[in-house]
Amino acid sequence: MCGIVGYIGTKDSIPILVSGLEKLEYRGYDSAGVATIVDGQFEVHRVEGKLAGLKNLLIKEGKLPGQEPAENGAGLRLGIGHTRWATHGRPSETNAHPHVAGRICVVHNGIIENYASLREELQKEGCTFVSETDTEIAAHLINKHMTALGSLIEAVRASIAELEGSYALVVSSLDEPDTLVVAKNATPVIIGLSEGETFVASDIPAVLEHTRDFLVMEDGEVAVVTPKGASLERDAVAVEREPIRVTWDPITAEKGGYRHFMLKEINEQPGVITETFRGRIKQQESGVFLDDVNFQDADYKDIERVCLVACGTAWHAALVTKYYIERLAKIPVEVDYGSEFRYRTPLVGKKTLFAVISQSGETADTVGSLDLARELGARTLAICNVVGSTIARRAENVIYTHAGPEISVASTKAFTTQLTAGYLLALRIAVARGTLTKEEMDDCIADLTRLPALITESLKCDRQVEKIAKKYGRSEDFLYLGRGILYPIALEGALKLKEISYVHAEGYPAGEMKHGPIALINEELPVVVVLGRDGINYEKAMSNLIEVESRGGRIIAVTDVATPQLRELAWEVVEVGETPPLMMPMVFTVPLQLLSYHVAVYRGTDVDQPRNLAKSVTVE
Ligand code: AGP
Repeated sequence: MCGIVGYIGTKDSIPILVSGLEKLEYRGYDSAGVATIVDGQFEVHRVEGKLAGLKNLLIKEGKLPGQEPAENGAGLRLGIGHTRWATHGRPSETNAHPHVAGRICVVHNGIIENYASLREELQKEGCTFVSETDTEIAAHLINKHMTALGSLIEAVRASIAELEGSYALVVSSLDEPDTLVVAKNATPVIIGLSEGETFVASDIPAVLEHTRDFLVMEDGEVAVVTPKGASLERDAVAVEREPIRVTWDPITAEKGGYRHFMLKEINEQPGVITETFRGRIKQQESGVFLDDVNFQDADYKDIERVCLVACGTAWHAALVTKYYIERLAKIPVEVDYGSEFRYRTPLVGKKTLFAVISQSGETADTVGSLDLARELGARTLAICNVVGSTIARRAENVIYTHAGPEISVASTKAFTTQLTAGYLLALRIAVARGTLTKEEMDDCIADLTRLPALITESLKCDRQVEKIAKKYGRSEDFLYLGRGILYPIALEGALKLKEISYVHAEGYPAGEMKHGPIALINEELPVVVVLGRDGINYEKAMSNLIEVESRGGRIIAVTDVATPQLRELAWEVVEVGETPPLMMPMVFTVPLQLLSYHVAVYRGTDVDQPRNLAKSVTVE
């Protein structure tokens, strides 16, 4: 749940580390630090709080930009950096990484589960700990083994044999200033390769400005990193792996003129949705082609049920996907939270299609559930955004969402591309099982091809939504209601508002309101109702709206085209234009994303990096 960067080469390491950490800050931002070797000693700079504080310190001390004073050994410059999301030990400068023990310096992402027993043993042997972190234990352990064995790689091998838990560790030693050693278990780490310099990072965008060639490390591997490249090993036996070449444009990871990444990412949705279905649907052939998925028609026919597992926003995408699969492919679907699925006794077997949905591909509870389902013999599939992530590697099949890097902690474009991928999956299963007529399939495909234009239209409500945000933005509570396929969209709207504006919001199925939440309704409460003219659910939602109106609730309706009755009941009506019913989840999401964004801006919160959250939740 932290971001790590390492550099070894001939350039100043500090600017490289800081720019890498800036791109990793979404992984955590309660403290930050960098370490280099200067005159044969570690020079460590750390601050509590965001990276901006570390940058100020480095500028004050003349380390930024490009003023690192000394060089290591043979003209080499080496450094490691970290941005933290606290697990063991509160956010503070003392608990910030890097941690030094003797002649060893370490940055770490993950959790060392047996830290208490290791700490006790090391204390008995005379080690003194200055922080409350589990990472400092790893630093002392490696230092102890380095003293005994005299080789950094051997010291790391010996240490990880004693560590239990998850780690991406980058280790530097004063005795081997021309080497970094990296160890990985259950948290992501990649190695970037370039002429005469090598990079280590939690993910690819962190160092994409320097190289496009990457080695993606696997669990249980250790890498010896020098300016000439990296050699991988597992259990002290060399591992051969070809680097992957990344073709993303680094500019896509920048703000591109928008005030916040979130707003940029909301506006990217028409394009990334197109990328997600491009090449996967062929109208003339009434077909859906999921090239990354190895299942044949027979495999889809063999499935008796589908189990969808995810967390947070991705869980909302799973709820909509359930609706798509049941409606189009006629297979029963269950949806579960990762944190629930993995700790009950789930009934999945080889006739179950077990699909996870994850933007990052690293969410610990989703990874854990996927591993469990594999053990239980289920067929597995992932809807995932990050190529080479843990989930993408472990699932039998992957449908990539092609949303590009999502920097804002609040998920927006990842969500609507997950919905698009879920829809494609439902159509693909429907093709294999013959559950739709040719005309129905053609209509479904035609609807999808219209989606980018519908989202573009929906984005036009931005100014109106901004005004609504200013009018209602002082309220401390919001209720979100939706029915049928729009119920998960109400949940997602409420989650977005909570996470970036810190306003309490509850999402509810509109029909359930009278079983409890109706007690909350008074003249103060804004009630956001998401409803589209999609048949029975529309009629029912209108009745629920009347119940809200008669209790004085301030209705903000998000709809396709408003009827006169809706105009009469609602205080505000946001219209997104004619939308086919199955495209409503994607199109109606846009005004809700914009509402949460503008409320957050109005309230002055940190939109892209809200308090207490991290982009990638790699701890359970
Ligand atoms: C979304 O806005 C959230 N920040 C969060 O709920 C997120 O969707 C969840 O943590 C799952 O992440 P994943 O898609 O990377 O697995």
